[in-house]
Amino acid sequence: MSATVALSNISHQFDGIAALQDVSLTVKPGEIVVLLGASGAGKSTLLSLLDGRLDEWQGQAEVLGSKLSEGTAPTRQKRTEVGFIFQEFALVDRLSVYQNVMNGRLGHMRVWQSLWGRFDERDHMAVSAALRDTGLADLARRRTDQISGGQRQRVAIARCLAQEPKLILADEPVSNLDPAHAEKILALITGQARKRGIGVIFSSHQPELSQRFADRIVGLRQGEILFDSPAGQITQDHIKQLYYGDTPGGGLRVVS
Ligand SMILES: Nc1ncnc2c1ncn2[C@@H]1O[C@H](COP(=O)(O)OP(=O)(O)O)[C@@H](O)[C@H]1O
Ligand SMILES: [Mg+2]
Repeated sequence: MSATVALSNISHQFDGIAALQDVSLTVKPGEIVVLLGASGAGKSTLLSLLDGRLDEWQGQAEVLGSKLSEGTAPTRQKRTEVGFIFQEFALVDRLSVYQNVMNGRLGHMRVWQSLWGRFDERDHMAVSAALRDTGLADLARRRTDQISGGQRQRVAIARCLAQEPKLILADEPVSNLDPAHAEKILALITGQARKRGIGVIFSSHQPELSQRFADRIVGLRQGEILFDSPAGQITQDHIKQLYYGDTPGGGLRVVS
């Protein structure tokens, strides 16, 4: 099977300042990869590239077997294959939990069906499975502005699962949560992804949690990959170098 993500020599600048520099990265099907790095390291930029939302980049990029072309948005079908869990959840407050999760199905429908709200059996089954797997079945009819922040986060995850993507991207999905909730949410995302064979790439500031839930950790610093290692091989030195080291490339650079 071809790689879920294959990036070679990707670079991107914002107003002449490098946000990604010569990034090469391969992610295998079903693999769970964390992007670790300080603020400004380039994590969000890399995730928007993978999601087809970044303009003006250089290099070669393939996601789920399709080449990304600079300046061309991915097709609707390709968009459906990649699920994105946004930090701010992006839910519709006045809709029920069920309706918000059903929104994850829109990419699977023909335009007229989505306009008329014609969901079929398969759509309802995908939504029910997602609600069950995220522990939300009892809240299905509740409006999303009448549930807690933690429950809203689970709705965002359920919506992404209902989409039945082949790859899930998440930008710092647990950075606003206390340690216990962060652990629960990462366990939920990665557990469901493993059960369903979905690859995950998420960014994080939490090395220990990342190590527990990921297969691989990619350390980004100033737009460059400083290390790319199996999660179990990450040491305190890697982390120190990532957050406190001097120039990237000077000294430690582990790629395995
Ligand atoms: N929309 C933008 N306009 C200008 N510069 C940006 C923009 N987004 C990010 N940057 C810059 O690009 C670099 C990488 O940012 P980002 O990918 O957001 O890092 P991270 O997600 O790791 O915090 C930083 O120097 C940041 O200031
Ligand atoms: Mg970011």
